Amino acid sequence: MKIGVFDSGLGGLTVLQAVTKVMKGVELFYVADTKNAPYGEKTPEQILQYSLDITAYFLKAHQIDALIIACNTATSAAVKTLREKYPELIIIGTEPGIKPALEQTKTGSIGVLATPATLVGEKYQDLVNVLSAKEDVTLYEQACPGLVEQIEKGEIESSKTAQMLERWLHPMRENDVDTIVLGCTHYPLVAHKIEEIMQREMNLIHTGDAIAKRLLALSETKGHVNEGDLNISLYTTSHIDKEIVANIMGGDYTIEQITDL
Ligand code: DGL
Repeated sequence: MKIGVFDSGLGGLTVLQAVTKVMKGVELFYVADTKNAPYGEKTPEQILQYSLDITAYFLKAHQIDALIIACNTATSAAVKTLREKYPELIIIGTEPGIKPALEQTKTGSIGVLATPATLVGEKYQDLVNVLSAKEDVTLYEQACPGLVEQIEKGEIESSKTAQMLERWLHPMRENDVDTIVLGCTHYPLVAHKIEEIMQREMNLIHTGDAIAKRLLALSETKGHVNEGDLNISLYTTSHIDKEIVANIMGGDYTIEQITDL
């Protein structure tokens, strides 16, 4: 089985890494579209076009059977169109984990961190309207413009990143938030900084493991037998911080820059 996974950069590797823990005997192809990052500050039309181009590339160059949109922002802008255009393809998107957050919060105060595009997207608004209407909770939503760039630049530990997080997290700390939804696949890469700033043990919700399990279940319905080795090929459309890639993925992959996208 061949599986394509994409994101604007490093973030989707947090999903890919979860997939490698669950799936066996598959070929994994990952596109980090760093040329067009950050997606979260682009228009829905631009994000849709990037997603269509990458999916077309995966199908032409690697004949994929399944696609994981390892990006909340691209899922919001493109999953509907991609499913209409490619009904035969298994397509799994990434959505902010509001549901697990509602299950885990004890204080009833939940933070949501995401890109500007995800928070204003119709998909997120629908998700929140349906789920939070059922429970007595307060959501503290915070767009984090610039955070993806900081992570892509390798500035995870920098004081500028810490200051940005402090500004966004301060109201959450003051309001007894015990659960934060990491609504962008880049944000697990700064999870330790978030916990440091919140000064307490937090439920930090990201959905990589749930996506991996869903992929396994869907692929088995298509006859996949989950045994054998993994083959991982990473592609970037521009520069990427290879040290961060190695930290997330370990050593067993190839990486190359591509120009046909
Ligand atoms: N990692 C992407 C997400 O999950 C967004 C990154 C970006 O803004 O490029 O939303």
